Amino acid sequence: MNIQWYPGHMTKTVRMMSENISLVDVVVELIDARIPYSSKNPDIDNLAKNKKRIIVMNKTDLADPAKTEVWKKWFEAKGFTVILADAVKGTGVNKVADTARTLMKDKIEREKARGRLFVPVRAMIVGIPNVGKSTFINKTVGKTTAKTGDKPGVTKGKQWIRIKKDFELLDTPGILWPKFEDEEVGLKLAMIGSINDNILDTETLCTEYINLMMVVNPNFIKNRYNVEFDTIDEPHDVLEKIAVSRGFIKKGGEPDCERTAKIVLDEFRGGKIGKITLEMPEDIHEMEAKMVREEKEKKAKDAARKAEYKKKNNR
Ligand code: G4P
Repeated sequence: MNIQWYPGHMTKTVRMMSENISLVDVVVELIDARIPYSSKNPDIDNLAKNKKRIIVMNKTDLADPAKTEVWKKWFEAKGFTVILADAVKGTGVNKVADTARTLMKDKIEREKARGRLFVPVRAMIVGIPNVGKSTFINKTVGKTTAKTGDKPGVTKGKQWIRIKKDFELLDTPGILWPKFEDEEVGLKLAMIGSINDNILDTETLCTEYINLMMVVNPNFIKNRYNVEFDTIDEPHDVLEKIAVSRGFIKKGGEPDCERTAKIVLDEFRGGKIGKITLEMPEDIHEMEAKMVREEKEKKAKDAARKAEYKKKNNR
């Protein structure tokens, strides 16, 4: 599998992101609660190095609540302030302003001590595509007064949404790229529907999803689709069983795996199968170790290729 994310736009994106980040006090990163690691941008730590940070675990309505709590503690232990949200319902949306001001408390007090009466706090929303940034901002705007106009010192065209008298949000979110080196991350993003389905064929993707679910949450599959299997069974066989159980049979009597795959993925994405979280903090070490291993292998291969090239040319 080779997923091409945003070739060509990266440099521009990074430049714009740095420019916008320089205008705010707090960076609010949205991640998807179903895949908190895979939906988190790896470079934002660097881009937002000197800023206060909030992580919003969005789409909590679709994720396993107990696992969301584990992730929340995990991020908190790393020094992040975490808000749990469901941007469609609006849960958690109104916590951003107060949380941001709490994070900026020291600066606000310092400025007030210097005689400033009004110390506004500014924030921006960032996140990979489809985590719910626009929904989150719209929900916020819905509850607030009108947008503020351009201000001196602010890049032309930037609009600020005044949420409270002393808190403003940049109206356009920063779009970040996912960890595109890792195939497992790509697969999980495709499973939740965050990247274009056309890139991967649905049957392969669904087989990978079943493979993961057979370990993470086998009973959800068993109960929803009325099928039996062991963890060691082939995931594609399970897909066939689901097709049979649902009565999706092609004319010649073969199970219609493609149709089944589409429905199984749609049901997962829509939360019909249950509240599911696809990864846990303990999986990360394995994934990161794999990434490091792959990076080392790549470097070794490059070095070997270079050495080979040198040898040939010296001859
Ligand atoms: P983005 O700006 O980060 O790219 O994401 P956007 O707000 O466009 O949201 C992407 C999809 O996720 C939308 O669904 C949106 O309704 C949904 N969404 C956002 N927040 C939540 C949440 O907390 N819970 C759930 N269940 N869904 C959420 P869509 O199917 O692409 O569009 P639509 O059907 O809403 O029109």
